[in-house]
Amino acid sequence: MVNPLKFGVVGVGTVSLRGLIPHLVQDDVRDRVVLTALCDPVVDRVETAAHQYAIDQAFTSYDEFLERSDVDAITIATPIGLHYEQGKKALLAGKHVHFNKTMTVTTAEATELINLARQRNLRIVASPGEMLRPHNVRTREMILDGAIGDVAWAVCGAAFEAYHEAEPERDFGPGRTPIDPTWYYRKPGGGPLYDMTVYSLHGMTGILGPARAVTALSGVRICNRSFNGKLIPTEADDNTLMLLDFGESLFAVVYGTAAGGIRDSLDFSGTYFGTRGTIAGLKLNGEFYDYEGRDQAVLAPDKGTRPGFGGNEWILPNIQGVHRQIPEQHVFADIMQLVDVISTGGETVASPEHARHVIEIIEAAYRSASSGSREILRTTF
Ligand SMILES: NC(=O)c1ccc[n+]([C@@H]2O[C@H](COP(=O)([O-])OP(=O)(O)OC[C@H]3O[C@@H](n4cnc5c(N)ncnc54)[C@H](O)[C@@H]3O)[C@@H](O)[C@H]2O)c1
Repeated sequence: MVNPLKFGVVGVGTVSLRGLIPHLVQDDVRDRVVLTALCDPVVDRVETAAHQYAIDQAFTSYDEFLERSDVDAITIATPIGLHYEQGKKALLAGKHVHFNKTMTVTTAEATELINLARQRNLRIVASPGEMLRPHNVRTREMILDGAIGDVAWAVCGAAFEAYHEAEPERDFGPGRTPIDPTWYYRKPGGGPLYDMTVYSLHGMTGILGPARAVTALSGVRICNRSFNGKLIPTEADDNTLMLLDFGESLFAVVYGTAAGGIRDSLDFSGTYFGTRGTIAGLKLNGEFYDYEGRDQAVLAPDKGTRPGFGGNEWILPNIQGVHRQIPEQHVFADIMQLVDVISTGGETVASPEHARHVIEIIEAAYRSASSGSREILRTTF
């Protein structure tokens, strides 16, 4: 029998506390992966969490964590602006890496990490693995099979009102220190594109293929937010609309905006308009379509009616038993892709090349918005 991977969680913040740590300490994964170390600079948070979950080691210094923890692989769940530096150090230290979205802020950074991993025979898995979702796979198949005729345009994106400042873990996590969300509104790495629209862009490019060019408008609409009575001035754009060109006059509207609520989560996967019909989320021309695992998804409390949530999380790979009751199932599914590719040497659709293409779209959208130009995209996956 192969020894289980020794795994570390970097960043013991909201997503780690809500989902990553609870998933990774379950008995049913112990033959494949064991969570042995946590790292976070906030000492009372990291020590309390390690004690609470009976995790052997807690580090407040990332360098010390890499040197002394003896983990084989890590998940990086820190502010997005730190991912590149932390990922690079981890690869140089010989660790396999799962990146919470988004892997890096720039295309050049992503390319450097991809090359570094290749040179060192290490694996990277980059969230969000939207093409692990059976309904996205089916949407791609239906479009290729001509189910809605010739597709002419599509729309996807994420819109929010109250945002990360409203998550309950921020005030009631382990230790006494609240988890400050300020970074979500600062550069580099803040703003809804890197954090939320990234899901939609992975879904849409997974379904339609790589985009060829982007044009965008972008700015700050809500100038201040607050957390625990502290004012957070918005630095990173919070209101971006882009037009994507997929070639042969197939276009898409993509949004990442601070107003409007998460439009029923529909646009996370996108709406696709063709000459003979429409695919909107889970519906083809207004009726639910079938896809692998839908029989399981409909057994969930939400009856599998929401594309990115509820029953449609249950049917991701490795989401069985107790994992169906723990939040952030899609992130755990992505982490287990890393565990699987390290063990089997296979490939995953949650690839760093796909993540890099989405990062290029976001970076190019900001460039387009400031220059007024149409930006040609060069990466593919
Ligand atoms: N919150 C969510 O709903 C959610 C869901 C899925 C994915 N994500 C992704 O997970 C990542 C983390 O998001 P979050 O909301 O949990 O952030 P957060 O602000 O809640 O937590 C970030 C944590 O990182 C720690 N940290 C800061 N600097 C560090 C360093 N140098 N080394 C180690 N730890 C450090 C902070 O102390 C904090 O505990 C982001 O990439 C985000 O996009 C978040």
